[in-house]
Amino acid sequence: MQDTHHIQQNRMGIRVKLFAFSFQVILLVCSAQAQLSPRFYWRSCPSLEKIVKNAMAEAVQKETRIAASILRLLFHDCFVNGCDGSLLLDDTPTFAGEKNALPNANSVRGFSVIDNIKSQVEAACPRTVSCADILALAARDGTVLVGGPSWPVGLGRRDARTASLRGANSQIPSPLSNLSALISAFAAKGLSANDMTALSGAHTIGFARCTTFRNRIYNETNINAAFASTRRANCAASGGDNNLAPLDLHTPNRFDNKYYKNLLTQRGLLHSDQELFNGGSEDPLVRRYSKNYAIFAHDFAAAMVKMSTISPLTGANGEIRINCRKVN
Ligand code: HEM
Ligand SMILES: *[C@@H]1O[C@H](CO)[C@@H](O)[C@H](O)[C@H]1NC(C)=O
Ligand SMILES: *[C@@H]1O[C@H](CO)[C@@H](O)[C@H](O)[C@H]1NC(C)=O
Repeated sequence: MQDTHHIQQNRMGIRVKLFAFSFQVILLVCSAQAQLSPRFYWRSCPSLEKIVKNAMAEAVQKETRIAASILRLLFHDCFVNGCDGSLLLDDTPTFAGEKNALPNANSVRGFSVIDNIKSQVEAACPRTVSCADILALAARDGTVLVGGPSWPVGLGRRDARTASLRGANSQIPSPLSNLSALISAFAAKGLSANDMTALSGAHTIGFARCTTFRNRIYNETNINAAFASTRRANCAASGGDNNLAPLDLHTPNRFDNKYYKNLLTQRGLLHSDQELFNGGSEDPLVRRYSKNYAIFAHDFAAAMVKMSTISPLTGANGEIRINCRKVN
């Protein structure tokens, strides 16, 4: 009884903090990102947010992992030429897009969900809403649906007419990166080391292929032995490259702070995950997030606002793509 009371009081506290925090984020959106506005489609597409939210609810209901996959799509879009929908473009015989870049090939997923949302949005408001904005909203809604924090999404991004295979290969960090490489990759996008540590908490949901963590579970020493052995059972020293393991071994379908708890006990799945807690500069923040979900959720939301507004195309730049897979 007393416990419940305590938890309720705690929840109230968190709510008050989140309330105050929303104002801060709105201020951030209005000042630093003056060109994007949460009300951008207020007149031209009033049903937009509802369409995206309902479609994401349906998609997550069908497969929980889709929330993770769409969140990752936004990351991989925003890190290459900014949040411009470049990742969504299909290759053609005369055009090499980003889908077959090393970090994306055989790995990124969720495009059909974006296509489905786009066709519903086109039916309601033809030639009005960019694919880049749809992706930013869908990633936020998916995160909320699996228990994560919400954040205001500034709108008004336009879609790229190009993509960069080379950019995708060089600017999206590798799971083999060390801490300093991770910090530089995020710094190159205007994100701090602490933003990087908070954003990596996205690995509280979703899955990774054997090929991305094989070396870690066979060759590394800063890994819990029982955990490594469990993972080896479904990821042989050779073969089975596409076998999946959860990035958060406890609750891969729930957005919580267990990712950081795992790092404290050397149960990070990727080499890059464990780099955040391996005697370096981010150790104290990992400890803090592992102890307090509310602080993590707050910092994650603030960092998502930053990440989802990396150099958007606005005004007369780019276009409003009709089909997210190809330029008009
Ligand atoms: C810090 C550098 C990062 C590295 C090196 C990295 C690397 C990876 C790798 C290798 C995978 C597994 C992919 C596969 O095997 O197909 C993965 C999955 C994932 N990543 Fe990251 N990531 C990083 C940061 C982020 C960020 C910033 C986000 C989003 C805010 C994110 C969201 C995700 C999600 C949700 C998944 C699971 C996707 C799914 O299940 O479909 N990651 N990441
Ligand atoms: C981290 O990796 C980069 C390049 O991947 C390398 O140049 C650097 O020496 C490494 N730093 C440390 C501390 O190992
Ligand atoms: C372990 O490391 C060695 C030496 O770098 C490498 O040759 C081998 O392929 C690695 N094993 C696995 C399973 O990744």
